[in-house]
Amino acid sequence: MGVEAELRKIGVVGAGTMGSGIAQVAAQAGYQVVMRDIDNSFVAAGMEKIRKSLNKAVEKGKMTNDEKDQILSRIRGTIDLADMADADVIIEAVLEDRGTKKTVLSSLDAICSPRTIFVSNTSSIPITELAAFTKRPAKVCGMHFMNPVPVMKLVEVIRAFQTSDETAEVVKALAVKMGKTPVEVNDFPGFCTNRILVPMINEAAYCLMEGVATAEAIDQVMKLGANHPMGPLELGDLVGLDVCLNIMEVLYSEYGDPKYRPCPLLRRLVQAGRLGRKTGWGFHKYE
Ligand code: 3HC
Repeated sequence: MGVEAELRKIGVVGAGTMGSGIAQVAAQAGYQVVMRDIDNSFVAAGMEKIRKSLNKAVEKGKMTNDEKDQILSRIRGTIDLADMADADVIIEAVLEDRGTKKTVLSSLDAICSPRTIFVSNTSSIPITELAAFTKRPAKVCGMHFMNPVPVMKLVEVIRAFQTSDETAEVVKALAVKMGKTPVEVNDFPGFCTNRILVPMINEAAYCLMEGVATAEAIDQVMKLGANHPMGPLELGDLVGLDVCLNIMEVLYSEYGDPKYRPCPLLRRLVQAGRLGRKTGWGFHKYE
C-alpha cells in the first residue's frame, strides 16, 4: 500500500495562480482540500480560476459535469488558518517573501498536529531555511510545482537538510497521486528549473534592451529554433515579471555571481507595474 493512502486532507495556503492550481489537482486526485487566503475576495478569485479550468475540461469532454461538481465539492475556501489544523499535508504557496513564509509556517506549527507535514512551493528560498522556522524540521519538504499547475507534469521535490526520509517519501507519493512526476533535486538557490529557466528569461530581456531583436523575434527564434512551447519573453509574462525579478535577486544574492544580475529592463517593467499576463501587459500586451 502506498504511503499516500493514509492522506485524506490537504491544506493549501494561498489561492493565487499556484495555490489555486495546486488545490485543483489535489481535489482531482480525490483529497479533501482546504484553500486559504487572507481575504475572501482572494479566496473567491481562486475558486473562480478552478471553476473555469474545470469547465474547460468539461467542454473538451475530458470530464463530466458531475465529476466537476464532485471535485469542486471537495474544495473548501477559508480565510482561517485554523481550518487546516487537522490536515495531513499543508502546501504553502504564499508570496515569495521570507517574512510572509516565516509567519505562515510558524503560525501553522503552533496550530497543527505534530504529524502534519508542511510543504513549500517556494520557487527559490532554501527549504532548509524554511524548515528552521518550525519546530518540526524533519516534517518540512519542498514541492515546487510549475505554472500552469493543471498542465505541467513536473514537481521538483527538495529535501531540506533536516527532512526525514519518511517525509520525502510521502511527498513524492503525493506528487504521483496528483498526477505529477516528482524529480528530486538538492536544496540550492533556484533549485534546478528556475536556475536554468529564469536566467534564460533574464538574458532574453537583455536581448530586448540591447536591441538585438524585437520581443516578437526573440520569442520566435526560441520557438522555431529550439522547439520551446513558448518564447522566453512570453514565458516571463506567464510566470510574472515580479516573480522572475525576485528569483534573479535570490540567485544574485546567494551566489554573488554577476552572471545572475537582473536585467535593468526587467526591473523597470516591474517598477511600472507591467508584471505580465496578470496585469495585461509585460513584455507583450494582452487582451
Ligand atoms: N489551466 C489549465 N489548463 C491549461 C492552462 C491553465 N492555466 N493553460 C493551458 N491549459 C491547457 C489547455 O486547455 C490545453 O489543453 P488540451 O491539450 O487538453 O486542449 C493545453 O493546456 C494546451 O494549451 P493551449 O492549446 O491553449 O496552448 P499551448 O499548446 O500553447 O500550451 C502551455 C500552453 C501548456 C502553457 C505551453 O505553452 C507551455 O508548456 N508553456 C511553457 C510553460 C512552462 O515552461 N512553465 C514553467 C514555468 S516556470 C515555473 O512555473 C516555476 C515558477 O517557480 C516560476
